Amino acid sequence: MSEQLTEHPGTAAVVLAAGRSTRFRSATPKVLHRAAGRSLLGHVLGALAPLGLERVLVVVAPDAQDVEAEVAAWDAQLRAPVTTVVQLEQRGTGDALDVAMAALPDSITRVLVLPGDTPLLRPETLASLLAVDPSVPLGMLTTVLDDPFGYGRVLRDGEGQVLEVVEERDADASQRRIREINAGMYVLDRAVVAPIVAALGSDNAQGERYLTDVVAALARDGAGHGVAVDAPSHEIAGVNDRAQLADAAAVLRRRHLERLMRAGVSIIDPAHTYVDVDVAIGEESVLLPGTILEGATSVGVGAVVGPSSHLTDCIVGDGAIVHSTRADGATIGTDVEVGPFAHLRPGTRLEAGVRVGAFVQTKNATVGEGAKVPHLAYVGDAEVGAGANIACGVVTVNYDGREKHRTTIGEGAFIGCGTMLVAPVTVGDRAFVGAGSTITEDVPPEALAIARARQVTKEGRAAGRLG
Ligand code: UD1
Ligand code: MG
Repeated sequence: MSEQLTEHPGTAAVVLAAGRSTRFRSATPKVLHRAAGRSLLGHVLGALAPLGLERVLVVVAPDAQDVEAEVAAWDAQLRAPVTTVVQLEQRGTGDALDVAMAALPDSITRVLVLPGDTPLLRPETLASLLAVDPSVPLGMLTTVLDDPFGYGRVLRDGEGQVLEVVEERDADASQRRIREINAGMYVLDRAVVAPIVAALGSDNAQGERYLTDVVAALARDGAGHGVAVDAPSHEIAGVNDRAQLADAAAVLRRRHLERLMRAGVSIIDPAHTYVDVDVAIGEESVLLPGTILEGATSVGVGAVVGPSSHLTDCIVGDGAIVHSTRADGATIGTDVEVGPFAHLRPGTRLEAGVRVGAFVQTKNATVGEGAKVPHLAYVGDAEVGAGANIACGVVTVNYDGREKHRTTIGEGAFIGCGTMLVAPVTVGDRAFVGAGSTITEDVPPEALAIARARQVTKEGRAAGRLG
């Protein structure tokens, strides 16, 4: 989370997220669709986090339990309490704000209003909106677009005072030529605006209660004009369909890669590197092309990841090398070397200096310091002691068709090539298992175990067989 910008006691944010979002064509509410590792709503809440608000209220549709769950998940990350309020019928943005106003505690005197689908918004821009003189009843973010189609247009008088916002569908031809648009983000004086919002009608082209009608009401009633604050146009874009979702995700990723590069991470080809916004990476680390880092992943200092490594919810230690690897829920220790072509599944823990090589799969397994699994092995539901050597083709036979069982391999043990370790089974410290063994019984420390049929050699018997 970025550092705190300002403190705003008495100010609440209201996030409008009850809309129907039909253009998304999805059973999942639009605001829960993800871009660069966070939901759209999560990006908006993340932009609020550094502002120091007193509370955050999200307006949701009825039966949106998954949206409520997402809001609850953000509670710990926002310094303000975040709650939801249900808008029973989607009767427009003004109606949504009306519902929210009624749900805010009395201590709230100022309200920051945002849509839930604008993931590119930065805290700095919201701070500039909050910097509007609190004696002004309404501040709004506006911007000038080459193609203002679809947005509400900002009408001003001869002196430049904001008079009104006219929606696309209610605008006449000359109003449609106005290129200054309403971003749909406001800061409001609650005492002045709440009664106006409560009185909003729905006499317009969409039959909705427009929040934007507050602007005209203020100008008309002499309560003071709204004040427009210029916003960077690329930050206010809403995500209305999946093409815009992909565009927004690309911008979010690019911003995060730039932050990382400025903080000392080398990214060889940013156009082909995909790093979620919550992934932290230490200085002097290098990301090679084709790398995807997702979720709660972190990478230490001086690590090398890629080419084409795909890590989800992984911790990568300092100096580790993770070549062409798929890993999910794995902890990769300091100076570990993984890959190419390894698959680390959830519950994998590789201690410092471990080597896991090509075509090795691990799952729910701890591999102790300095141990080696260099090639073609499966290590699942296992404990491998420090310094052990698991040779080529070893399999922990963990599943009997009904249950999973554990394999324990002691420190410094040597498991020869092609060995099947039929779990539950333990191989003691510094024990040695001969190549090609099928081990079904425990091997004591420092013992030598060989479990394979004796070789039969019949002199001359192959003569003539191979033509
Ligand atoms: C709104 C503005 C428009 C502005 C544009 C910027 C109004 C009337 N118009 O239009 O001037 O240019 O945003 O993007 O406000 N929502 C609810 N409940 C509802 C309706 C909407 O919670 O009943 C939420 C939506 O989920 C969305 C936000 O309010 O997050 C904005 O609603 P939307 O329908 O997208 O408004 P626009 O038509 O885009
Ligand atoms: Mg919209």
